[in-house]
Amino acid sequence: MKICVIGPGYVGLVGAAIFADMGNQVVGLGKNKEKIDKITKGVMPIYEPGLSEIILKNVKEGRLKFTTSATEGIKESNVIFICVGTPQGDTGAADLTAVMAVAKEIGNNLNGYKVIVTKSTVPVGTNERIEHVVQENMPKGGEFDVVSNPEFLREGTAIEDMRNTDRIVVGAKNERALKVMRELYKDFDAPMMECDLRSAEMIKYASNALLATKISFINEIGQLCERADANVQVVAEGVGLDKRIGRAFLNATGVGYGGSCFPKDVAALYKTSTDQAYDFKLLRSVMEVNELQKFNFMKKITKAMDDNLSGYTFGVLGLAFKGDTDDIRESGAIKMIRMIRGHGAKLRVYDPAAMENTKKVLGHDGIYYSKDMYDTLEGVDALCIFTEWNEFKSIDLAKSKKLMKGSLLFDARNLLDQKAVEGAGFIYIAVGKRTNGYTEDGDIVSTAILRNGK
Ligand code: UGA
Repeated sequence: MKICVIGPGYVGLVGAAIFADMGNQVVGLGKNKEKIDKITKGVMPIYEPGLSEIILKNVKEGRLKFTTSATEGIKESNVIFICVGTPQGDTGAADLTAVMAVAKEIGNNLNGYKVIVTKSTVPVGTNERIEHVVQENMPKGGEFDVVSNPEFLREGTAIEDMRNTDRIVVGAKNERALKVMRELYKDFDAPMMECDLRSAEMIKYASNALLATKISFINEIGQLCERADANVQVVAEGVGLDKRIGRAFLNATGVGYGGSCFPKDVAALYKTSTDQAYDFKLLRSVMEVNELQKFNFMKKITKAMDDNLSGYTFGVLGLAFKGDTDDIRESGAIKMIRMIRGHGAKLRVYDPAAMENTKKVLGHDGIYYSKDMYDTLEGVDALCIFTEWNEFKSIDLAKSKKLMKGSLLFDARNLLDQKAVEGAGFIYIAVGKRTNGYTEDGDIVSTAILRNGK
């Protein structure tokens, strides 16, 4: 099949790579010439394990190319994927400017029957708007169908997620479009769910919102566990064994969920509900809990430091919104760092992939960007772990203790083994469980005396 993928971001690049690798003829279309040239040479604008290799292989074997020419990209193809961004607008709704501009461009270049497939996350009713815009801009007698085909891949495991997806959702209006989609996905080992356009659009939002709900739910269970002296990790394990519930997305976190999808999509779905004169109360709570989670974790930090962070230095491991990505959009870690810095403390920070992105956003004021994990620990009064990178799990605790000045360790991801951390002489404060950082009454211990006489 001849495919054009518009928008060389996460979804677009991964889609282009996989479809080409499955034997299709694919052209990736973008606006920025420098970016497109780099992608062709295997230099990706995003950090995604394995992506560059697949792209280079398929470019070399002649199945994949990239261009900035809309005419070339669209006219040569019979299936056009829209994969441009839909960032959060001022009202909370998804900003559809880029999607509609692309729809116009497709209309302008329509030659022969094409299937226009939306992979960008778009609110209910958007595909009908796309259809309208294409119609308004196409030459007389132009033929096309719109299809909603939402994407469920996660950053960091995007290639694997697309290859081994649980399901392929295809919203379409007629058999002609469906036939093309069945042919396109015939080699994927996953059930294809065929439905109407609007339901397909809603499936994407409902999926992300439900996953975010699971996280906010377990975060609140964690709050209760701390108070009642239970352990949220054990509870998640036990609850997750129920196949109807499942263990996934039940990791409590002190920094809340982040990234370019959950925060924006939950807000957009809430906006859709209010637009439909419905108050989706549960979603409101999901968002509120997610914000509160960071403030609650910050309270633990300030309490342990006797409400005075000024003059202290914090080490921070993890800046990205989750492990295996360089993405810091809506990252809980960045928000925590802003709060810690706002309290007058200095920071030494490290992330295996997100250093450059963080420098652009936080600058250098009060922040030292460490060379590696252990450089971060040199002389710090307290250490915070904010992102779930595997690398941090195997940290040498004895070595870390020696490098640090203080002995406080705040683990906002429950990444480390409690016994090992406490055994190494740290005062450990984590999420949803009591540790040696708590008094018998469940309060955070005051560590003033323990911190080297400070
Ligand atoms: C998410 C969805 O998982 C994908 O299915 C979807 O395709 C994608 O959004 C999208 O809409 O494009 P992603 O944002 O890459 O993928 O990241 P996730 O792995 O879902 O994690 C989101 C956030 O939740 C991260 O901050 C992560 O640390 C947090 N999280 C995840 C938890 O706090 N606890 C968990 O148990 C799981």
